[in-house]
Amino acid sequence: MNKLSIVGAGMVGEAAAQIIAREELCRELVLMDVQGDMARGKALDVWQAAVESGSDTRVHGGGDAALLQGSELVVITAGVPRKPGQSRQDVLSTNLPIIDGIMADIKQHAPSATVLVVSNPVDVLTYRAWSLSGQGRNKVFGQAGVLDTARMKCFIAEQTGFSARDITALVLGGHGDSMVPLMRYCQIGSVPLSQFLSAGQIEQIVERTRKGGGEILGLKKLGSACDAPGVAIAQMVDAVANGRNRILPAVAILEGEYGRTDIAMGVPCVLAEEGLARVIELPLDAQEQAMFDQSADQVARDIGEMKAL
Ligand code: 2OP
Repeated sequence: MNKLSIVGAGMVGEAAAQIIAREELCRELVLMDVQGDMARGKALDVWQAAVESGSDTRVHGGGDAALLQGSELVVITAGVPRKPGQSRQDVLSTNLPIIDGIMADIKQHAPSATVLVVSNPVDVLTYRAWSLSGQGRNKVFGQAGVLDTARMKCFIAEQTGFSARDITALVLGGHGDSMVPLMRYCQIGSVPLSQFLSAGQIEQIVERTRKGGGEILGLKKLGSACDAPGVAIAQMVDAVANGRNRILPAVAILEGEYGRTDIAMGVPCVLAEEGLARVIELPLDAQEQAMFDQSADQVARDIGEMKAL
């Protein structure tokens, strides 16, 4: 990939930039923020770190939207994080105009760029960004499930003592307390998780995963998670930049899959050169579908709230 821009040079944007630059996922990386000097300074720091790692990715930053010109992929991490005790939806009224402004900048300077939304509430803001983009759903999608799945893998590794390398897991639904960890699809070295953990232990992991972001926020107090979100972004960027055809969970606009339309939420997707190449529809049992529907109803209410603003 030639040029990638990250809009929002906060902790998550910086963490993602570091990995993207170090792993040479693009030739030119822009870190853009309304605080232009801060973005410029962080870009220099990230560039110098990348050079130390042997990377030739050029990193620069600033506050001018014209920096987006020619970007093939734009990652949006801008906006305020929630504070302890707040839900992700509580920052909607602050972050919505920020997303609207960024989408106007993208339409002006990089209208055909693929857009990866990370800012919260991510399901609602992915829906908004897609509505404003005038592009197909393959070009606008969001990050949530890669992070939620990583959290769940941590908790499974902790409970079982097995290597996280051998754990496969999948979290669907909205990026909130109603997210849907699909434990039936979770395996360790191809062996179903239920072989190793009791139903009660699995339920504890589900609950901790659902509240995984809040747990970190409650401890850090002054900011949300940033390192694991940064890696999650880099994985999705890598899948697109290198046309890997990876199956990863992403916040996608649904067109009838899982019985839903006119909504954005987490589902397994194929990420490829063209962006979100397709949504994979898994057969869900009655209980899983009920959890998915509950999560979808919550996201639909949140999108309704956004439309009323
Ligand atoms: C999280 O789950 C900030 O939503 C992000 O940590």
